Parts: sequence; structure tokens; C-alpha cells
Amino acid sequence: MTATEILLIVAIVLQSVATVIAILLINQTKFNVLWICCIIGFSLLTVERVCQLLAYDGVDVPRTTFIWLGIFISLCFSIGVLFANVLIRYIDRINLNRRLLENRLMTAVLRAEERSRADFSRELHDGLGPLLSSAKMSLSALSAQDEAYDRKELIDNTTYVIDEAIRSLREISNNLSPHVLNNFGLARGIQNFIDKSCTVHSTKIVFKTNLSAERFDSNIETILYRVVCELINNSLKHSGCTRISVSLSLSGDELRLHFEDDGRGFSPHDMLGCGMGLSNINSRIASLNGSFDIESRPGEGMRADICVNIDSAIVHSLPRRRDKIKQKRENGED
Ligand SMILES: Nc1ncnc2c1ncn2[C@@H]1O[C@H](COP(=O)(O)OP(=O)(O)OP(=O)(O)O)[C@@H](O)[C@H]1O
Ligand SMILES: [Mg+2]
Repeated sequence: MTATEILLIVAIVLQSVATVIAILLINQTKFNVLWICCIIGFSLLTVERVCQLLAYDGVDVPRTTFIWLGIFISLCFSIGVLFANVLIRYIDRINLNRRLLENRLMTAVLRAEERSRADFSRELHDGLGPLLSSAKMSLSALSAQDEAYDRKELIDNTTYVIDEAIRSLREISNNLSPHVLNNFGLARGIQNFIDKSCTVHSTKIVFKTNLSAERFDSNIETILYRVVCELINNSLKHSGCTRISVSLSLSGDELRLHFEDDGRGFSPHDMLGCGMGLSNINSRIASLNGSFDIESRPGEGMRADICVNIDSAIVHSLPRRRDKIKQKRENGED
């Protein structure tokens, strides 16, 4: 057997295997025309190789057989390539659907988390708060009646401890579900967090915004609020900065957040896996279909830019509401 015969046999075997694999995958391509044409083209190529092998061994294969096989092979591959864009669109659609599904899952998880935080916060505030307040009132009444100095001091100390418990309960409840954010919106919520941070840190924090009392989807407000808190906490905790500036602006449908500190800086890509903070910001902003860019180098502070389209974020976070609106419009109820 010559080398040419061996190579022809190898080509026939490989093309047959490729054809079988392509046939097995046909279901997954939803019977795409490009795929079917490739299968037919491959099968005809195998037939052509067989004819070449026979001709090589002296069998008289008519020349027209090769001509027709060549024409059909060219046709199959050309038609297949013409339909390639259908396959590409199909793959794009699958990728888009997967991204949407991931975003919806993330949104659902975040919403569930926020809801349970809010429930817990309410339980603490409304359940434990009044009990502590009434204990404090009883002690105050006791203190007013009792003349003994020792007992009075004891009662005053206990009242002080209860006061502290009430204060820390309010703080825990507020951290779990910030009431300024819930009641007055994003700008006031962020300002409130900054004011509280300034009371315990010497770093200057400047906040600028063109928002006043505008309200957005609660998911957008909560996520952006928590992102700002994490960025500020990171700067205060890791950067040793003297100044932080936060700016939040709404222009058209886009909500933009710019954050800067003048601290020691870091390499964001090396640090992504170090803690939960930065990767949480990434996934939370992705769930709103927004963008998060962070720029920092050792010794040069850090800058972060976040942009969320309030319309598309709502579309992604509230598919049901969007569907209902669409349905109403179709029914002419608008
Ligand atoms: N503003 C900053 N300046 C300097 N380094 C920073 C800054 N922000 C983050 N880093 C660095 O990036 C790392 C990762 O930050 P990330 O918020 O993900 O985690 P963490 O703050 O360490 O922990 P966690 O947020 O989970 O409590 C930090 O440990 C810190 O080294
Ligand atoms: Mg952090």
C-alpha cells in the first residue's frame, strides 16, 4: 500500500468520524442550516475521497462523478456560510439569555437579602426597642421616688446601660435597613452615612450631587447606597487617605457615581479576590446591568466610576412589572 493510499484512508476515516459527531450535535444547533450544509458537505467530501481511492486503485470512476461531487460540495459550503449569521445570532441570543438569567438570579438574591434585613431590623426596632424604653421609664420613676443615695447611683448606672443598649439597637437596626435611605432616598441616605462616618474619622469626606429628593427603584437605591458605604469604608480602612470625594449625578436616564480618595492606592486586579467588598460591588452593579470601573496604582490614590441606566436596570430587576406594563399597553388599558 502506498503512502497516498494510506493518507486517503486516514482522510476518509477522519471525515466519517467528523460527520458522525456533527450529526450527533445537530439537535443542539436547533437544526441550523449552516450545520446541515456542513454535514452534507462533509459526507460528499468522504464520498469524493472514496472515489479518489478507487480511481487510484485502477477502478474506472467517470470524470463527471468528480465534477458533480465538486459542484455539490461547493454549493453546500457556500449555502452554509450564507446562513452562518443565523447561527451567530442564535449563539448571541443564548448568551444574552444566560446573562439576563444570571442578573435576575442575582437581583432575586439581593432582594431576598434586603427583605430579610428589613424584617430583622423592624423586629429589633419595634420589638426590643419599646421593651428597653419601658424598662428605662420604670427605672426613672424608681429613681425619682427613692431617696437612698446608694440605690440612686445603682439605678442611674442601670439607666445609663439601658440608654446605651437603646442607642446601639437603633444603630444595628439602621445598619440593617437604613431608614433615611428608605424614607428620603439615595442622596439623603448617602449624606447621612457620610455624616456618621465623619463623626468617628478625621478624613474629610465631600459629597456633591444634583439629586434632591428623587426616588428610584428600591433595588437601585439599596445597591448604590451599599456600594458607596463599601467604597468609603475601604478608603477609611485601607488607604490612610486625608480626603474622599463622592459625586452622584443623574443625567438623562443615567445615574453616575464618581468616587475618589487620595490614599496609598493599590492594584485592583491583584486585590479582587482578597475580600468580599470589591467583588460584591462588581456583581451588584452587574445585576443592575451597569458598569463599574476602578482605577488605582500604589501611591496614587484610587478612583471608581459607576454608571447605571435607571431604565434598563429596572427592566432587568423588575421583569414582571415590565411585562405587566407591556400587557396593559397591548390591551389598550393605558
Ligand atoms: N481605597 C483603597 N485604598 C487602598 N487599598 C484598598 C482600597 N480599597 C480596597 N483596597 C485593597 O483591596 C483589598 C480588597 O478590598 P475588599 O473590599 O474586596 O476587601 P476587604 O475590605 O479587605 O474585606 P471586606 O470588604 O470583605 O470586609 C483590601 O484588602 C485592600 O488591600
Ligand atoms: Mg472592603
